[in-house]
Amino acid sequence: MTASLEARVTAALAAIQNPRLENDLLSAGMIRDIAVTEEGRVSFTFLLAPGDPATLVRSARAAVAAVEGVRRDEIKINVTNPAGPAKSTHAPPADAGAVPPMAPAPQPMDQPNLGKILAVSSGKGGVGKSTIAANLAVALTQAGLRVGVMDADVYGPNIPRMFGVNARPAVIGGKIQPLQAHGVKLMSLGLLIERDAPAIWRGPIIMKIMNQFLRDVDWGQLDYFIVDLPPGTGDAQLSLVQGTHVTGAVIVTTPQEVAVGDALRGAKMFERVGVPVLGVVENMSGFTDPETGRRFDLFSSGGGQRLADEIGAPLLGTVPLQPELAALADAGQPILIAEPDSPAALSLRHIAETLQQKTAGRSAALPILRG
Ligand SMILES: Nc1ncnc2c1ncn2[C@@H]1O[C@H](COP(=O)(O)OP(=O)(O)OP(=O)(O)O)[C@@H](O)[C@H]1O
Ligand SMILES: [Mg+2]
Repeated sequence: MTASLEARVTAALAAIQNPRLENDLLSAGMIRDIAVTEEGRVSFTFLLAPGDPATLVRSARAAVAAVEGVRRDEIKINVTNPAGPAKSTHAPPADAGAVPPMAPAPQPMDQPNLGKILAVSSGKGGVGKSTIAANLAVALTQAGLRVGVMDADVYGPNIPRMFGVNARPAVIGGKIQPLQAHGVKLMSLGLLIERDAPAIWRGPIIMKIMNQFLRDVDWGQLDYFIVDLPPGTGDAQLSLVQGTHVTGAVIVTTPQEVAVGDALRGAKMFERVGVPVLGVVENMSGFTDPETGRRFDLFSSGGGQRLADEIGAPLLGTVPLQPELAALADAGQPILIAEPDSPAALSLRHIAETLQQKTAGRSAALPILRG
């Protein structure tokens, strides 16, 4: 049984190409020391050369997580530099092949200064989490609220780019100063680290950084604190819910989503730790002709509603494909600022209003309910 699970894990890794080498990760010798236990725990060493995109690590993790029988929360990847530890001060210690012990789960802290904490999450990557998180933040700011955004995507932080900032944050009196853009306070690992560095941070370090972001950043008093999470149910999700009391989660998906497995697992994880799922946002949902206002479904539709039904949470809204959105986002202009009357902006504003209503009665910090 172990052998076949191991074989399937190996095959999943062999299916990932390194575009630089025009070869797959295994043939390229980038994966070492694969260990797979009967219980579905997987660990391996990832030799990431400086020229390789850090997102390869995330792809590897996602591919392994998708293998049936693998426990997603028990995948340990030691990312190391093939040039050897001497070159990198961040390199893991000499026992890099060993599975690091699980850190004891800390008690979540109350942080009333952060206001209501919303986690924006998804099962799959690239569905528009960061876009939704950024625009919800702008919408709430435009409604007169004080809002902060924390980019918790250590493997591919893109909030700074979406807000058009990349200055290094100042430290005053031991507190990291958040940046501000479009009235929103923001902080991202992308502002503090070299572009390719985060891939070598493993779970315990992500937890440390997450806690530092929650506690040592000078957020001031906020009404809403929006956390842009990486896809899936990895270290960042775990660190967030263990570090603070999250008011609720918003799950983002796309209309063509047939298999809701990953998103469902994500939603279940939040529920398990007592974080209510406030609802589902379906993004890239059809296209509205700006001339006629007619709506076209480009792909198959209904993924958002299906997921909402399965989770037992409401569909908060559908955000249409807005062709110019990506270019505007790359230029640091959230669609809510650049084209406030576009169909996508109207929908995002409506979702923000719904979220405000849904969280109106909730205290900033819900108690953790176990069981
Ligand atoms: N409604 C939309 N219309 C058009 N383009 C969109 C829309 N939503 C998102 N995009 C574009 O799709 C791409 C992916 O979006 P985004 O980066 O927000 O996804 P993500 O879920 O945060 O991805 P990742 O998992 O990599 O963090 C971006 O280029 C973004 O500009
Ligand atoms: Mg993102």
